[in-house]
Amino acid sequence: MKINIVQSASGKANASALFFVKKSVQFSDVLSENAEKQVESVLNGMEDGPFEDLEYLEIDNQPTIFVDAAKERGLSALDHLRMAAYRLAKKASKRQIPMVSIMLADAAPEQFKSILHGLSYADYKFDAYKSKQKSAFLVTFEIVAGEQASEFKKIAKDVAVEQKAIVLAKNLINTSSSDLTPAEFVENANTIAKYTPGLSIKVRNMKQLEKEGFMGLVTVGKGSSHEPFMITLSYDGTKSARGTKTKDANARSSSDHLVLVGKGLTFDTGGLCLKPPKSMPEMISDMSGAATVLAAIQAIATLELPIKVSAVCCLAENAIGNKSVLPGDIFKAKNGKTVMVDNTDAEGRLVLSDGLAEAGLIGATHIVDIATLTGAMVRALGYAVAGFFSNDDDLGLKVINCGEACCEKFWSMPLEEEYADALKGNFADLKNTGSDAGAIAAALFLQEFVPENTAWAHWDIAGTAFVSKTWKYTEFGATGFGVQTLIELAREMSA
Ligand code: BES
Ligand code: ZN
Ligand code: ZN
Repeated sequence: MKINIVQSASGKANASALFFVKKSVQFSDVLSENAEKQVESVLNGMEDGPFEDLEYLEIDNQPTIFVDAAKERGLSALDHLRMAAYRLAKKASKRQIPMVSIMLADAAPEQFKSILHGLSYADYKFDAYKSKQKSAFLVTFEIVAGEQASEFKKIAKDVAVEQKAIVLAKNLINTSSSDLTPAEFVENANTIAKYTPGLSIKVRNMKQLEKEGFMGLVTVGKGSSHEPFMITLSYDGTKSARGTKTKDANARSSSDHLVLVGKGLTFDTGGLCLKPPKSMPEMISDMSGAATVLAAIQAIATLELPIKVSAVCCLAENAIGNKSVLPGDIFKAKNGKTVMVDNTDAEGRLVLSDGLAEAGLIGATHIVDIATLTGAMVRALGYAVAGFFSNDDDLGLKVINCGEACCEKFWSMPLEEEYADALKGNFADLKNTGSDAGAIAAALFLQEFVPENTAWAHWDIAGTAFVSKTWKYTEFGATGFGVQTLIELAREMSA
């Protein structure tokens, strides 16, 4: 797909696209009076005729594709636009239309942004493992932007950066686990740090983790032949490239340090508490949190957002081996609390205890951890909504609002103290399973490791990270959920 943003139509397009909601056409500013009448009669006749979304009709002697921007149930107006644009791009490429013009002169910037994201999603395919790679037909979308052309061009640059990050996360998540081991993930992160100005990286291997007492990662990772790692990526957008404070940043004088912590289980067999075969293949996606934070910080640094952000990836493979952690084993976490491993399949919270400790060590004021943490969350909210927990109302509200702006749904869940006692261990301070409210129990466990006086939000993306049937703009596999909201959160916090 190619995007051309122009002030007025070049006249070279093979077709135009018109978005409509119910019976009214959107962004109709540029239509002639005659065309407006034609469009009106088409939309009015919709119920009588066999009118389908994406139908081709002649309007003003120009082939015109009508795109329904209110087709799916339950989506916001912005997400409807994304879906409409996604369907349009799929259709144009299938029909091999070289150039489609879209009249968006009177679209709001956020509407344009949604449309661009929708068009971009249609380009994604994961065919690395296919024996034959098909090349897609290249469609050029001419965006007629009128007076807004220069603003839209800037937005298009941002969308390109965001989409690049989403594709990065999706590719990492979709890659099979034997090919994306913790060490391979580290390789990827090293490459990203190398090619992203302003992004630095620190990697700890198993030996260093053990020496420094990051025993959650060691405990989970030691059963695998692929050793665990912790990656810390840092970016300080409050400083210019030369390391001095920028004027801009001084004006804001923000001392915020947002630390993103991601669960990075490159595979989760469940360990000795082995998972049933049916639910295992999806565990290639159990490193979605780590992929999401890596992708987000890459975009945040590329966009040069004026904020200090770090990302901590907690990487391990939960495997069965002769050194695997045994149920009943007790280890001492980085913050000094002892933990009895009640269930080896509740491993995510163990590696995250180290990620949260690292966030504290590097001076986080705000922490967001992201994890495919519990099956209970999948059962509670399904694939369309992520549950989150927060100890800070302001941060919680930002999560919801930023999510909404990015068409990602978040639902606030309670850190219910009545269930906290269920996490107490007999011989140890804590155990890694608790009450029947599984997603809450996991969040309460994590809360035990959140550094003091730190605003914290925990996102459980077990349901939203990976889909096995088509959902919105993902046919199968990784959705990239969370990448955009994290970028938006950094944008919001730096504003
Ligand atoms: N990685 C899983 C959670 C998961 C389930 C992610 C489904 C994506 C889809 C996690 O490590 C896990 O196995 N959690 C257990 C915890 C339980 C043993 C307390 C669960 O939710 O069943
Ligand atoms: Zn597990
Ligand atoms: Zn897991």
